[in-house]
Amino acid sequence: MCGIVGYIGPRKISDVLIRGLRSLEYRGYDSAGIAIMDKSEMYVVKEVGKVADLEALLETRPVSGTFGIGHTRWATHGGVTQVNAHPHEDLSSRLVLVHNGIIENYREIRKDLSSRREGTYKSETDTEVVAELLSSLYRGNMVEALTELQGLLKGSFALAILSRDDPDRIYCLRQGSPLVVGTTGKGETFCASDVPAILPYTQDVVYLDDGDMAELSREGMKFWNSRGEPIEKKISHIDWDVTMVDKGGYPHFMLKEINEQGAVLRNSMAKRIVDERVDLSAELPWTEEDVRGWKKLHIVACGTSYYAALTAERFLERITGFDIRVDVASEYRYRTISADRDTLAVFVSQSGETADTLAAERIVKSLGGRCLAVTNVIGSTLAREVDDILQLKAGPEIGVAATKTFMGQMAVLYLLAIYLGRLQGRVTREQERLWCRELLALPYKVESILQRQGELQEMAGLYTHARDFLFLGRGISYPIALEGALKLKEISYVHAEAYAAGEMKHGPIALLDPRVPVVVVTPRDALSEKTFSNILEAKARKAPVIAVATEGDESLDDTADRIFFVPSAAEEFSPFLTVVPLQLFAYHFARFLGCHIDQPRNLAKSVTVE
Ligand code: F6R
Repeated sequence: MCGIVGYIGPRKISDVLIRGLRSLEYRGYDSAGIAIMDKSEMYVVKEVGKVADLEALLETRPVSGTFGIGHTRWATHGGVTQVNAHPHEDLSSRLVLVHNGIIENYREIRKDLSSRREGTYKSETDTEVVAELLSSLYRGNMVEALTELQGLLKGSFALAILSRDDPDRIYCLRQGSPLVVGTTGKGETFCASDVPAILPYTQDVVYLDDGDMAELSREGMKFWNSRGEPIEKKISHIDWDVTMVDKGGYPHFMLKEINEQGAVLRNSMAKRIVDERVDLSAELPWTEEDVRGWKKLHIVACGTSYYAALTAERFLERITGFDIRVDVASEYRYRTISADRDTLAVFVSQSGETADTLAAERIVKSLGGRCLAVTNVIGSTLAREVDDILQLKAGPEIGVAATKTFMGQMAVLYLLAIYLGRLQGRVTREQERLWCRELLALPYKVESILQRQGELQEMAGLYTHARDFLFLGRGISYPIALEGALKLKEISYVHAEAYAAGEMKHGPIALLDPRVPVVVVTPRDALSEKTFSNILEAKARKAPVIAVATEGDESLDDTADRIFFVPSAAEEFSPFLTVVPLQLFAYHFARFLGCHIDQPRNLAKSVTVE
């Protein structure tokens, strides 16, 4: 959580920092600030609220200089106040820094420093203590001071630092929280927590590894490892472009991203389905022998990514012979895990930076399992730690609520399922052909749903008085009910819970009355008749029923209050279609309620702390 940006170069510094912070706002948005230096003059401006509030303040109090850093905060240590907002200075204002992460031992450090250094801390943050510690370590060489600092801090941190004693330089240090740097080669250099902040200027970036330090200047970038030894770093070319990080005329990123899902499906399948056959060999160097040697398949993820994993589990268990286990990373990492050389472990993470998912991956790695990342961010920590990667090809997702990456995750996991099933000798050529045809038809079907968004907008408007929703689904539709409920609650703050439809009678039915709408995901499949009974039960309690059903299914006409029809598909593939109306319903519902859709309260897009 929290977004960091830094710039040195000829452009107007505050403009570059504000633009960068806006594109990082998905990482935190309770307060924001910048520090700009002009030779050794230092100006720090911070404000509670969104980056727009900081921008408004800067209009009344403009600052200029030649290099600067900025931060958008997601509060951890200390409340949401102007004083706690970053950047933070040391007690003698020799240096100023921004921080993403958590310093676990900051209390001990503060106590230790208090006995040696005079002055009063202004904030309640761990970051101010880091600034003071660094200042105490600085004896004329910042890289040496940072090398020492790393050894003293416990926790996760990405830092960008300006120092009066070392003007025209920005120093960066990464340990556990992401940091990327880049240069145009034309007298300007950037750093940021994530690529979108740099993308308007360059597509060539360097990802810092844990322990790495960087010095940014007009001349370019220099790097050192955690022992303070100079190192060379590889430049990565990003195949995203700047148009992908603006709203493209949509009122919200979330709506833009929902509307991109047809393209995401096409990109996910391009070059991976050839002649109606799934071929992942360019990305996964696995032999048939490798695959046949793996007996267990673990899939680990958090939040929406976990629901994508649960959806794929239903398909995987039908077509592969693995002993499958799907778990949320925050649980998996503390359980007794039997993963070893016969285990393939798949870590699904849009950002590739989720702390729990990373911890789970490190456990499997230490036990000798084979680790595969399904991620959208190729330079992420997860991507760099695993044995193998399958990229989502969704493009940057800026809206905090995941939508298009959920679609991309399902697509990639389905392709993986078919590929594994074939290598295990369990999928016939004919079967694979049929599944490939189903997959290739999905983008058109998704787009046909997107053309009917008006129906969902209207539907959402009918229920804005509701304060509780129940979502139900069976079989492969159960994870979609979970995802639908998550989307609704996270962006509208209205309580929504999902249950496996068969569980309704075991408790949740007590909640039903005319004020609690029940959203039922019931595409035509082997279980839809069973779900129909649940609809009748809900109606008998006078609960309004909103159904997501398959075109041509007339069975619900006299029971459901509202029905949204999706095109028909083979039953394993219905989740790609049924999730889209739920995303749109949540979006329009939250919009009617006037919520901050792209940046819901208390949430950050990547959860880089436990
Ligand atoms: C919900 C959402 C979160 C993420 C979760 C995992 O809309 O976005 O639940 O899915 O925080 O994030 P990643 O996939 O980056 O590991």
